[in-house]
Amino acid sequence: MGTYTITVLGGDGIGPEVTEQAIHVLQAIGERYGHTFTFHKALVGIAAIEAEGDAISDATMALCQQSDAILFGAVGSAIHGSKLPPERALFRLRKELELFANLRPVRPFQALENASTIKAEVVHGTDLLVVRELTGGLYFGKPSEIRETAQGYEAIDTLLYTEAEIERIVRIAFELARGRRSKVTSVDKANVLSSSKLWRRVAERIAADYPDVAFDHLLVDSCAMHLIRRPTSFDVIVTENLFGDILTDEASMLAGSMGMLPSASLGTRKTEHGLFGLYEPIHGSAPDITGQSKANPVAAILSAALLLRYSLGLKQEADVIEAAVEQCINAGYRTEDIREAGKAAIGTEAMGQHIVDALTHVAV
Ligand code: IPM
Ligand code: MN
Repeated sequence: MGTYTITVLGGDGIGPEVTEQAIHVLQAIGERYGHTFTFHKALVGIAAIEAEGDAISDATMALCQQSDAILFGAVGSAIHGSKLPPERALFRLRKELELFANLRPVRPFQALENASTIKAEVVHGTDLLVVRELTGGLYFGKPSEIRETAQGYEAIDTLLYTEAEIERIVRIAFELARGRRSKVTSVDKANVLSSSKLWRRVAERIAADYPDVAFDHLLVDSCAMHLIRRPTSFDVIVTENLFGDILTDEASMLAGSMGMLPSASLGTRKTEHGLFGLYEPIHGSAPDITGQSKANPVAAILSAALLLRYSLGLKQEADVIEAAVEQCINAGYRTEDIREAGKAAIGTEAMGQHIVDALTHVAV
């Protein structure tokens, strides 16, 4: 029995809707196991820009620092006209809290193999983990700007990685591989990019410290192809920020929908109970379906499971959530994004409630 503090940042679009269901699930876990979760809600994204003048305020940053973990929904909207991008909230959280390791597990549920656009026989048995570097590369390199020249506009972004940044993320990939099937694939574009040449050199050096872990390199274009050609051959994939962003949207289709994939963003800071971290679905704010109860809360709920496992050290409770989600999928409950042809979909709250109900009796 423990007492834990979680900062909840629902954000924009469907973010608050799916996060609400994750809170219900955590409350149900609290009741079953006698834990007390205290949730502190704060604004991020467009609502924060409008109410507090920035995508995330200093006060909210401080609130995050003081909690055991952060449950995050989504930020952003293609139609938002403000000069301050709502995504700034995410970048500030990732950078200032030094959450450089983004873990994105892809383990499609068997009952959803037919929901994938990829053939079920190709998807069957997929169990991979993408370790995405989250605080470097093109997302943070300076300069990054559009500027005017005598010949018209030009734009620049900077892809910078230090050896230390590459080393710490690659080490995490190897450590995690040891607890899995002991295979690491490092993904880069070393036939073109200098940053990738250094990435490959550092990865080779680290790999020598892990002779028990199988290791290979793939170019990112080739990886994109192999992900849908032979997804079962992957165990841990480690890659830089933008490649990881793109490859995980692609990989989510193996699981049937972006609405199924959770993520954990971790650093090295420890709290009383585990590693401090931020947990969020890999999907975005989906303004086109906001407020219609069409959003799939599973990615947010599975993110809450990762929160219990990594930040609160509650492994059994995390397993129980994952088992409850799988039980509901097996029972045929489907939101719109994973609906089977000819069958009805249920809403966001109904899906959350079915998972809460399953929690009370599921065994692990
Ligand atoms: C993600 C998202 C973000 C990213 C966006 C919202 C800035 O796509 O977490 O994958 O690109 O990192
Ligand atoms: Mn993304």
